[in-house]
Amino acid sequence: MDGGLPAGKKIRVDMSGAPQTMLATLYAKALDADAENSLLRDTWARDAVSRIDYDWHRTSITARNQFGVTTRTVHFDAWARQFLAQHQRATVLHLGCGLDSRVFRLAPGPGVEWYDVDYPEVIDLREKLYPSREHYHQIPASVTSSDWLQAIAGDQPVLLIAEGLTMYLTEAEGIGLFRAVVEKFPCGELQFDAFNSLGIRSQKINTIVRRSGSTLHWAINGPDDIVSKVPGLRPLAAISVFDSESFRRGVSGGYRLIGKLMSLAPAVRMMAQYHRYAF
Ligand SMILES: C[S@@+](CC[C@H](N)C(=O)[O-])C[C@H]1O[C@@H](n2cnc3c(N)ncnc32)[C@H](O)[C@@H]1O
Repeated sequence: MDGGLPAGKKIRVDMSGAPQTMLATLYAKALDADAENSLLRDTWARDAVSRIDYDWHRTSITARNQFGVTTRTVHFDAWARQFLAQHQRATVLHLGCGLDSRVFRLAPGPGVEWYDVDYPEVIDLREKLYPSREHYHQIPASVTSSDWLQAIAGDQPVLLIAEGLTMYLTEAEGIGLFRAVVEKFPCGELQFDAFNSLGIRSQKINTIVRRSGSTLHWAINGPDDIVSKVPGLRPLAAISVFDSESFRRGVSGGYRLIGKLMSLAPAVRMMAQYHRYAF
C-alpha cells in the first residue's frame, strides 16, 4: 500500500475531541484483523495502525473488547453491500468516516461515486495512509456545513452511511443533514447507528468518548424521532445492537450472555441501535 508516506516512517498523531475517537475504532479493527477468528479481516486498518505513531493504550481498546466496534462495522458493511447490490449506479456519502477502510473493503464498481467526509485533520491523515482510487473522493469538512453537499451531483440514488457519528451531532444538525440529503437525491437509503436517551445520559461511562474529551448530544429513541422530522423517509429497520446478526455471530459466549441480560431492560437494550431508512 502506498498512501504517499516514505517507507518505514511513522506519522505522529495527536488528536482530541470527536476526531480522537476514530483512533479507537481503527485500533479495534486492527486487533480484529490479526485474530484467528477475525470478523472483518481489515488488513487496511492493521497497516494503518502500523504506520501511526500513537500510544494505542490510550484508546482503551483491547483484543477482548474490540468486538463492540468490529461487530458494528460488520453490520454496516452488510447493509451497504445489500444497497450496492441493488444499485450499480449510486452515490455513497460515508460521513464521519474516520480512518475506516470501507471503500476498499467493499470495492464498489465504476458506477458508484464514493465520498468519505470527515474533519480536515482526519482527511489529511487518511490521505497520508490510503491510496487514491477511481470514483473515490475525500472531503475535509464538518458534515454540518452545507457547502460540501452542494458540490456533489444529486442525480443518482444515494446511500448515506454514518457509523459512530449521529451522537456527536445536535438533533438540529442531524435532522438538517438528513433533510438536505433527502431533498437533494431522487431516492436512496440512510444507514446509521444511534444512542437513545440513556446512552447519551450515561456517556461518562463510555471510555472512548470520555478520554477524547468530546460530548455526545443527539438521543434517538426510535424511528418516530426520525420520520416525524424528515419528510419522505420510510423506516426499514431499527434494531438493538444485541439483536444484530453480527453481534450474535461475532461475540463469544460470556459477552452474549451479558447482551441477553442487558436486553431484559428495554432502555438498556435499545441504548445503542442500528437504523435504516429508504426514500
Ligand atoms: C467514533 S468515530 C467513527 C469513525 C468511523 N466511522 C468508524 O466507524 O471507524 C467518529 C467520527 O466522526 C467524526 N465526526 C464527528 N463529528 C463530525 C462532524 N461534525 N463532521 C465530520 N466528521 C465528524 C469524527 O471526526 C470521527 O472520525
